[in-house]
Amino acid sequence: MRRFVVVGHRGSTDPGFSLNDLPGAGRMDELCRCVAASLCLSHGMRRDAECWLVLLGEPKGPKTIGFSGAKVRNLSPDERNIAGLIKKALALPCGTTFREASPGVMVRKGGLDAVLAECPCGVLDEGGEDVREASSLPETVLLSDHLNFTEEEEELTGGLPAYSLGPRVLHADQAIVVLHNERDRRES
Ligand SMILES: C[S@@+](CC[C@H](N)C(=O)[O-])C[C@H]1O[C@@H](n2cnc3c(N)ncnc32)[C@H](O)[C@@H]1O
Repeated sequence: MRRFVVVGHRGSTDPGFSLNDLPGAGRMDELCRCVAASLCLSHGMRRDAECWLVLLGEPKGPKTIGFSGAKVRNLSPDERNIAGLIKKALALPCGTTFREASPGVMVRKGGLDAVLAECPCGVLDEGGEDVREASSLPETVLLSDHLNFTEEEEELTGGLPAYSLGPRVLHADQAIVVLHNERDRRES
C-alpha cells in the first residue's frame, strides 16, 4: 500500500465551489492533480495506492477525503472530473468515521491529527534523508500543498521520519510522481 496524505491548507470544504475556478477553491486544481498523480497510470489505476486530501479551508472545518485506487470508478486524470468527485463527497453529511460518497471515495470530518493518530507516517520534505539512501520507506507519507506546513503542523510532525526527493522544491503532485517512481524501481 502507498498512501499519500496531502494537507490542503485552504482547500474548500464547501461543495458549492465552482468547477470553473478550481484555483479559487483553495488551490483545488493542485489537490486534484495530487489525486491523479497518486492513482493514475497511463493505462489504468494504481490499485495499491490511496490519496487522502486533508481540507482545512472555509467554511466547515477540517474534512478528509480518501481516494482508493483499488475501488474508485469513473476517475479520469483531468482536474474537473476529480473535483466533481470531491464536490459530491463534500455534499454528503458525515461524522468522524469515513463514509463512502461514491465508489472508492470516502469522506469524514477531521484533519491531520486524526490521520497521525491512525497511520504511522513519514513526511516528504526537501530537508529530509535522501530517499535513495533510505533502507525502507513508510506506507503513508505526508505532503503539504503550495504552502509550507504551519508551525502547529510542524510540531505534530516534527518527530516523524522525513525524506527528500532531491535538491529542488517540487509541486506536491510532482513529488508524488517521483516517490512512486522510486518505489516502482525498488519493487521491479
Ligand atoms: C510546493 S511544496 C510546499 C511549499 C514549499 N515548502 C516551498 O518552499 O515552496 C509541496 C510539497 O511537496 C513536497 N516536496 C516538494 N519538493 C520536495 C523535495 N525536493 N523533497 C521532498 N519533498 C518535496 C513536500 O511535501 C512539500 O510540502
